[in-house]
Amino acid sequence: MTRWLRGAAILPVMGVLLALLGRPAAPADSTSVGAKGNPVEGKKIFVVKCVACHKADGSGGVKLTGNPTPDWRDAKRMADPKHDDNYLRDCITNGKMKSGMVAWGKTGQLKPAQIENLISYIRTFSNPKK
Ligand code: HEC
Repeated sequence: MTRWLRGAAILPVMGVLLALLGRPAAPADSTSVGAKGNPVEGKKIFVVKCVACHKADGSGGVKLTGNPTPDWRDAKRMADPKHDDNYLRDCITNGKMKSGMVAWGKTGQLKPAQIENLISYIRTFSNPKK
C-alpha cells in the first residue's frame, strides 16, 4: 500500500471519531422522562403555581371537590399508559373541573412549552435518581 492510500483509508475513521466527540451529550433521561421538556424550568413554575395542591414532593393527597391530587412518587402508577405524557398534558391543558384542577393551558396561564417542562418535572418524582 502506498502512503497516499493509507492516508485515504484513515480519513473516514477520523471523521466518525470527530463526529462522535463533537456530539453534545444527551441527558441520561432523555427518552423516558418527559423527553421534550426541561425539568429545571418546570420546577420554577411548579413551586409557584402547583405546590399548594400537589405538594413539593409530588405526593399530593389534597382533596378539594372530587378526586384528590395523585401521588406522583408512585412509579407503578406513573408507568401505567393511562398516565402517560398525553394524559398529563391533557390535564394541565384542559384541567379537571370537577376536582378543582385548573385548565392552565386553555385559560392561557401556561404556554405549551411551559407545560412540557412541567411534565418533565412531574416525571422526576417517580424517578428520584434522575
Ligand atoms: C387548586 C388545586 C390544584 C392546583 C393549584 C393544581 N392542581 Fe393539578 N390537580 C388537582 C387535582 C385535584 C387533580 C386530580 C384531578 C383528577 O384526577 O380528577 C389534579 C391533577 C393534575 C394532573 C393529572 C395527574 C395525574 O397523574 O393523574 C396533572 C398533570 C396536574 N394536576 C398538574 C398540575 C400542574 C402542572 C399544576 C401547576 C401549574 C397544577 N396541577 C396545579 C389540583 C390542583
